[in-house]
Amino acid sequence: MQSISNIGIDAYEPAPRGESLRKLQNGGAERRGTLDKLRYAFACMMDFSTFLLLLVPILIGYLIRLFVPAKKKKIAGQLALVTGGANGLGRELCLQLAMKGCHIVVADLDTTNGEKTAEDLRKLGVKAKCFKADISDYDSVVELKRQVESSLGNVDILVNNAGVLPLMSIREGKPEDLKKVMEINLLSHFWTIRVFVEGMAFRRKGHIISIASASSYLPVGRLCSYVASKYGVRGLMEAFNDELYFDGLHEEVFTTTVYPTFMNTRKDLINTLNTINILKRVPIISAKTIARTTVNAMLRNEQHVFFPKWFGFMLTHYEHVPCEIRRLARRIFLKREIPKLMK
Ligand SMILES: NC(=O)c1ccc[n+]([C@@H]2O[C@H](COP(=O)([O-])OP(=O)(O)OC[C@H]3O[C@@H](n4cnc5c(N)ncnc54)[C@H](O)[C@@H]3O)[C@@H](O)[C@H]2O)c1
Repeated sequence: MQSISNIGIDAYEPAPRGESLRKLQNGGAERRGTLDKLRYAFACMMDFSTFLLLLVPILIGYLIRLFVPAKKKKIAGQLALVTGGANGLGRELCLQLAMKGCHIVVADLDTTNGEKTAEDLRKLGVKAKCFKADISDYDSVVELKRQVESSLGNVDILVNNAGVLPLMSIREGKPEDLKKVMEINLLSHFWTIRVFVEGMAFRRKGHIISIASASSYLPVGRLCSYVASKYGVRGLMEAFNDELYFDGLHEEVFTTTVYPTFMNTRKDLINTLNTINILKRVPIISAKTIARTTVNAMLRNEQHVFFPKWFGFMLTHYEHVPCEIRRLARRIFLKREIPKLMK
């Protein structure tokens, strides 16, 4: 495996090519004989038949779930940690989880509003505490875990919600700003998952929710940094879900990735959307609706949440539409392109 710390120091070894590569692929033999080729073709056919056979019960399961939704799990008494829980969607997620009986950790840099959220949560009869943490910093997340475990216990539900929404492209802002967007919107998910999943795996119980965005599927110009960070979250959650399966944890530790469109959270975001004429054309969904739907999807261990559900089908296929058609659709439906917003 490539060493990360010795790039440029370790001698670069090119991969085998031509005959040497073929020999490697043939398990050391110079070339495959006719019998080997037949054996190989037969093995492939057997694999394909087994695949088709085992596909049937999975498809039947999907079909049944179309009409009979999965049973909701109980989360009362569990401890949920919500990053960015002081404001916006994070606050709504805290409230929805508390209404299901969860105790809540509000992890945020904004402790003024974080304390207010925690106070409102306690009024719902659950334990709640605000912790100051910069989730873009690994050490801060480690310290957060230490403090949470010594005062409220183990985290069962991790909600990666905190994020920044600058409409900043690749040639805008300072390089540090771009780095910060990546650190808050993407790297923070690595840090929190890395720090909290260990305990979940040990207890064989847990759920990780990540708030991505419709931008995880919509490569829109002027939003390069945000789009790249949210594509990253989508990739991380897909791969991590697969990893839980490899580790035999997929029936005990679950993931849910959420792809909201625009929400009425920050005033400055809504003002910017208004400036660029998007507000009239794009539906704004309330953060409360997104939070309620997210928690209900999590209770059914759903892996993906789109708003509205049917939009998910369009969103997940948008990337495959040729870019001239995407541009035409944007010109016709949004009426104008997004102007440069920053220097
Ligand atoms: N608002 C939208 O239209 C929209 C659309 C799609 C996806 N999203 C995503 O939803 C999530 C929530 O968005 P929102 O609109 O509620 O945001 P918001 O700005 O209203 O709230 C974000 C919260 O995160 C906190 N935060 C930011 N950086 C932090 C850090 N480094 N450490 C700890 N806390 C930090 C902030 O203090 C704030 O309380 C984000 O991930 C965002 O990308 C938002």
